[in-house]
Amino acid sequence: MAYHLLKGKKGIIFGALNEQSIAWHIAVKAHEEGAKLVLTNTPVAIRMGTIQHLGGICGAEVIPSDATSHEDLENLMKRSMEIFEGKIDFMLHSIGMSPNVRKGLPYDALNYDFFLKTLDISALSFHKMLLTARKLDAISEWGSVVALSYVAAQRTLDRYNDMGDAKALLESIARSFGYIYGKDKKIRINTVSQSPTMTTAGAGVKGIDTLIDFTERMSPLGNASAEDCANYVITLFSDLTRKVTMQNLYHDGGFSSMGMSERAMSQYDKSFKDYS
Ligand SMILES: NC(=O)c1ccc[n+]([C@@H]2O[C@H](COP(=O)([O-])OP(=O)(O)OC[C@H]3O[C@@H](n4cnc5c(N)ncnc54)[C@H](O)[C@@H]3O)[C@@H](O)[C@H]2O)c1
Repeated sequence: MAYHLLKGKKGIIFGALNEQSIAWHIAVKAHEEGAKLVLTNTPVAIRMGTIQHLGGICGAEVIPSDATSHEDLENLMKRSMEIFEGKIDFMLHSIGMSPNVRKGLPYDALNYDFFLKTLDISALSFHKMLLTARKLDAISEWGSVVALSYVAAQRTLDRYNDMGDAKALLESIARSFGYIYGKDKKIRINTVSQSPTMTTAGAGVKGIDTLIDFTERMSPLGNASAEDCANYVITLFSDLTRKVTMQNLYHDGGFSSMGMSERAMSQYDKSFKDYS
């Protein structure tokens, strides 16, 4: 059911690769809620993935840009403002990649060139995106910018590797830029810390199936799906959350506040009795 929460709003969605991508679900939901969209990803992701199909579903133009390139970002935002015939109301940063994770290099044997690439793609790109928007004065007053994060920014999770450091930096950028952009332009900036989700990036973390099973057992509401995430992010793009900024908002079925649950306990304790 649509609530028309984004009627008349215009936004850029970064990071939809294929139907599994969290950004894909957010784009579809934003379109259903009445937003006009521009979609973007790297040229190679556009070739390898199915974002053009998403563009068809949402009636959105797909503009290639590497989010680590100031030049690409500037071109993307200028072109988007031409398409929108005005400023941008919301942006989604749904971008992450670690060459160390891809190559299976453990945290105590990281390749530092790869580490810098992880930070550039997964965190600094958020800073670059905000800096470009500010330089072009591209975002409307009371606009909203959201980036997707993960609880590995606060807690250590086996095999998440240098992505944990990247997420900590991403969340810090949301606070630092949220202050500057908030006081000058009333623009809000938040991160949403999502449950583990089976996507192309998610599948890159070895043992993701086990992690998803663990967090499902630990979360009183169960894991949040990509579609659940889309519903939540839409509220953050809408006018209903105008005074929410500089926050890392957990969207994880309660996982981040748990220590141990009955369902997880039953996995380890053979004499365990379920009292539910
Ligand atoms: N899947 C999970 O378990 C999970 C959980 C919490 C947070 N997240 C975060 O959600 C976001 C989206 O990931 P996803 O799980 O939907 O996977 P995904 O693989 O569908 O999306 C990652 C996207 O990043 C894009 N990307 C990579 N390098 C880029 C660059 N230089 N410029 C522009 N785009 C680039 C990819 O092309 C891809 O579209 C990421 O930030 C991820 O860390 C994912």
